[in-house]
Amino acid sequence: MAKIPVSLIEEIKERSPIDEVVSRYVQLKRAGSNLTARCPFHSERTPSFVVFPSTQSFYCFGCGAGGDVITFLMRIENLEYMDALRTLAERAGVTLPESDAAGGVETVSRRRLYDMNRDAARYYRDQLFDEKIGADARRYLTDRGLSPAVIKRFGLGFAPDDFGAMSRHMKGLGYTDAELTAGFLCKISEKNGRPYDMFRGRVMFPIIDTSGRVIAFGGRVMGDGKPKYLNSSDTPVFKKSRNLFALNYAKNNCADEMILCEGYMDVIALHAAGFGNAVATLGTALTPEQARIMTKYTKRVILTYDSDEAGQRADARGIGLLSEVGLDVRILKLQGAKDPDEFIRKYGADAFRDALAGSDGKFTHTLKSIMDKYTGGDPDTKLKMTREVNEYIAGIDSAVEREIYINQASAALGISADSIKSDVSFIINKNRRRGRKEEQGKLLREASGIGDRVNRDKLTKLHAASCEETVLGMLASFPEYLARSSNGEPLTKDDFSTEFGRRAFSAMAEIYAENGSFDIGAAAGVLTPDEISRITKLAVGRSRLDNGEDVFDANVAALRAEKSRQLAKGEDAFDAIRRLREKNKGNT
Ligand code: GTP
Ligand code: MN
Repeated sequence: MAKIPVSLIEEIKERSPIDEVVSRYVQLKRAGSNLTARCPFHSERTPSFVVFPSTQSFYCFGCGAGGDVITFLMRIENLEYMDALRTLAERAGVTLPESDAAGGVETVSRRRLYDMNRDAARYYRDQLFDEKIGADARRYLTDRGLSPAVIKRFGLGFAPDDFGAMSRHMKGLGYTDAELTAGFLCKISEKNGRPYDMFRGRVMFPIIDTSGRVIAFGGRVMGDGKPKYLNSSDTPVFKKSRNLFALNYAKNNCADEMILCEGYMDVIALHAAGFGNAVATLGTALTPEQARIMTKYTKRVILTYDSDEAGQRADARGIGLLSEVGLDVRILKLQGAKDPDEFIRKYGADAFRDALAGSDGKFTHTLKSIMDKYTGGDPDTKLKMTREVNEYIAGIDSAVEREIYINQASAALGISADSIKSDVSFIINKNRRRGRKEEQGKLLREASGIGDRVNRDKLTKLHAASCEETVLGMLASFPEYLARSSNGEPLTKDDFSTEFGRRAFSAMAEIYAENGSFDIGAAAGVLTPDEISRITKLAVGRSRLDNGEDVFDANVAALRAEKSRQLAKGEDAFDAIRRLREKNKGNT
């Protein structure tokens, strides 16, 4: 658990007004004493995202995201708790205690891992350029068309086929076994419990973040061995879902558009051919975080996935994710080559530039894919194909866009625009009716606790959960209640009936006990983002209600009555046993 004192968190927050920070990402409009915007965490047409300057919190009534300025930054920039805090502190000119001491979370410090990765990258590079050791690897890379300049620019290297060469070298530099394993450079042998080199006999591709630090490696076998690529797992300095290969270079060349491909080699070939705006995911499918990161650097993304079936599926997923974050997406289907690397080797950079210019927009691509799927020209097939196209068009929000697509579909399918238009309207109306029903159902389910992911016990303990919500909402807004003896007895976590209630209360109480105050941002290191959102919602919900001591005491009393009723019913036998045990422990 993070041990930054609440006083310091409060100071950082005081100097980082939430409306100011939020307005760097969305346009806020004043609404009375609060501010509203279209929510940055889900797509919506009417604003349901509210910033409350009085409590320095935010809440979206549409998707339920909520919290304070720290959790806002965590969500929108996909940061870990400590990183969000550090970012805010830096901007606010507040000095945080050194990360290892302060974090207390990581046994190996981030700085140490950065240093270690840099030294490892140097080692791999030196091996590649070693006359004897690196000869085969150099030939492999040259055969794949890479010039010495490109090899140097990407910092490529070679891991010798040896179980201990790298770690011996690194230990000579003072790195420990624990550090080498934490950084994924070594793995512990199951046979003898000793660490051995992770990457052996592979060409090494360092992965570099936008600050120029080496954060991980990908290693490729030079022949047909398996796995073809070995990639670092996540470490404290590397999240593969939040980084992109070559973004450190591409970020300066992609104001207009970015090329997203599948492999390291594709990116390197593209950069070498003059397309310095190419990036790749790190051996996994595109993630929502990566899509959001791309919005910081570019407006348009051209997808050039492999032409095989896996590539096609990745395409569809990528289109959805990139569109959702507001990026303009184009799709490039390469003819006569399986990937950009092979294409450029075969046909050259100019041909690739022409292909780029002929890339398809989202709708053209979708239309083509649907038409490719239905071969054979019989009426039934044509009907199915047309229906699928119409369904797709009906799902588009903008009427102008729909009209453009209807005309395009009409030309491609040979069906009058009027017919398509009337079918599309019919589908839209049908979907609307269904949507309304689903919305009502959802509200009903929520009220009764069904499908409540944050508080899973709500359904079975509805009454207790509702009292708990009142109490937690008041505690979040008036932390001094955390010290209140309610009806002669201090509130404890055992007074709560739901797991969520216990977790939330424990976190609050612990922070209060340590600091004499409470701040929702301080709980962000302990509770999940969804739990933080829920507590914020509960606090927001109390803003216009009576929060006097009598209301608090009455709810605590109800909570306790509910708890004993459940204990009497034997519903919570395990809790009862646990409570007795703890009590007995206290007596001995
Ligand atoms: P080359 O054969 O070197 O041209 O590779 P490629 O980039 O054409 O490879 P491919 O399309 O097969 O893979 C694309 C990306 O997926 C690679 O850059 C790796 O990041 C990842 N990848 C490929 N093979 C493996 C594997 O066996 N394991 C893992 N974890 N990732 C892989
Ligand atoms: Mn390839």
